Amino acid sequence: MPHKPSSLPTGMRRNLASYGDAEFSVFLRKAFIKALGYTDDALDRPIIGIVDTNSGYNACHSNIPDLIEAAKRGVLLAGGIPIPFPVISIQESFANPTSMYLRNLMAMDVEEMIRAQPMDAVILLGGCDKTVPALLMGAASANVPAIMLVTGPMLAGSWRGERLGACTDCRRFWGRYRAGELTDGQIGEVNGELAPTIGTCGVMGTASTMALAAEAMGMMLPGGATIPAVMAERRRLAEQTGTRAVAMAAEKLTPDQIITPAALTNALRVILAAGGSTNALIHLTAVAGRLGVGIDLAGFDRMGRETPVLVDLKPTGQGYMEDLHRAGGLTAMMREMAGLLAFDCLTVTGRTLGENLAGMAPAWPQDVVKPFKAPVYAAGAMAVLGGNLAPQGALIKQAAARQSLLQHTGRAVVFDTLADLAARIDSDDLDVDANDVLVLRNAGPKGAPGMPEAGYIPIPRKLLRAGVTDMVRISDARMSGTAFGTIVLHISPEAAEGGPLALVQSGDQIKLDTANRRIDVMLSDEEMAKRRARLQTPTPVKRRGYDKLYFDTVTQAERGCDFDFCIPPITTTIPR
Ligand code: FES
Repeated sequence: MPHKPSSLPTGMRRNLASYGDAEFSVFLRKAFIKALGYTDDALDRPIIGIVDTNSGYNACHSNIPDLIEAAKRGVLLAGGIPIPFPVISIQESFANPTSMYLRNLMAMDVEEMIRAQPMDAVILLGGCDKTVPALLMGAASANVPAIMLVTGPMLAGSWRGERLGACTDCRRFWGRYRAGELTDGQIGEVNGELAPTIGTCGVMGTASTMALAAEAMGMMLPGGATIPAVMAERRRLAEQTGTRAVAMAAEKLTPDQIITPAALTNALRVILAAGGSTNALIHLTAVAGRLGVGIDLAGFDRMGRETPVLVDLKPTGQGYMEDLHRAGGLTAMMREMAGLLAFDCLTVTGRTLGENLAGMAPAWPQDVVKPFKAPVYAAGAMAVLGGNLAPQGALIKQAAARQSLLQHTGRAVVFDTLADLAARIDSDDLDVDANDVLVLRNAGPKGAPGMPEAGYIPIPRKLLRAGVTDMVRISDARMSGTAFGTIVLHISPEAAEGGPLALVQSGDQIKLDTANRRIDVMLSDEEMAKRRARLQTPTPVKRRGYDKLYFDTVTQAERGCDFDFCIPPITTTIPR
């Protein structure tokens, strides 16, 4: 369970290096930090660490130097000393094999650096998909007063009069290019407009979803999730975050007081109402797990049935994050969701979610956050599936699916690995038609490894050219929160762990029955048992370093893909 910091020393006396003489440790520490020009007076102030996740590889975080300057100003104005420090930074398209493979490494880095260094509170500064969950996971375990500040979404671009942005439109235009509808020159022009400014992906992808979740669980100042990265308002928020962090240090307002089961339940509600990323469920499971809270998938499915999609953003709807911001962001959402949220949860402001909401500007006319009674999608963004292919669960983002395919039976076309998929998907010889079900396996937490966002299996080129734009696709992988289609994800246990997905053969009939929450292969138990008996055990691979730690301890999707040794015993399960 998280550390209890109330009796810990403060400021420079916290977390001393071990020399067997505490006063000498302070003496030595001060000697070194004075080399940076600090006076004794400055070093007697509360210390606010600022987690710096800037990296030349991470355009989603490129405004971090500016935000750090603003946050430092806020800390200094409130009488604290700000000290930025680096941790790992992960950007989605710059991480091999996948960003998810590294999320837990970053979470451990964050936890240990918060715990090892002297700080009375910490500002968690991140934004790209895996960085927000890793920061929250690490901070939850370290349990030092912590406040989240995200880098904010990028603005939308424009190509020949059409708005576009990363990364729903990356996939949409790439599909059109593969179908032969765009020339090399045109797709090059599109490429230059997809990320027209710094910041996180501008649709309701994982970064946007997790930013909303962090604000909804009370870990961010009100209104902080949606301010675009390039706006002055974001820098002002950074200054306010710095000021508030100093107060949180004095109040000893730790994450375990904020990230409660009720606050996590609010966050789950919000990701559903946002039409948010399926990845957010895995990440919230991991954050909750760090505090001994489990997420019951059946309960989450029930919650989905009561929580319509209210936000009209891609990939479920039409707009971009800047539109949601102008419409009032999470505040506008919470007003529509008033009957579903627990407003008595404590937040980083020191006030409750309801008190924060009461202090926000009154609502104004807008058409991005739809009324609860006239939602974008009434049936709930995501559905949790069971069935003989997913004994421990699977997920479908039904709001972003072709509705006519949500009940579908088709012939399996199986791809054994990502390499197999890449080698055959566009072959003219591939035996496939539009009614088939594309199956990808060995793409789960251990199989790929790192559970890549490969669940958005491309439509075979020959079908794309024939005008097919969606098919039922199933896998043990994840998919980008920016993706869309009739896609069953997170099948658990994964094939590499001997899950039933490993038993499917091309030609089997697969039945997707979303109404009854099932994904099944139409085989008898006897046939499944026969195939299991014939299943070959993979040759053991000799591993070392982080790779070994990852393979030995990573959990399946329903446990958040966290490392098993990072999860304390589960004492509470949500939603109730
Ligand atoms: Fe960083 Fe999308 S790649 S937020």
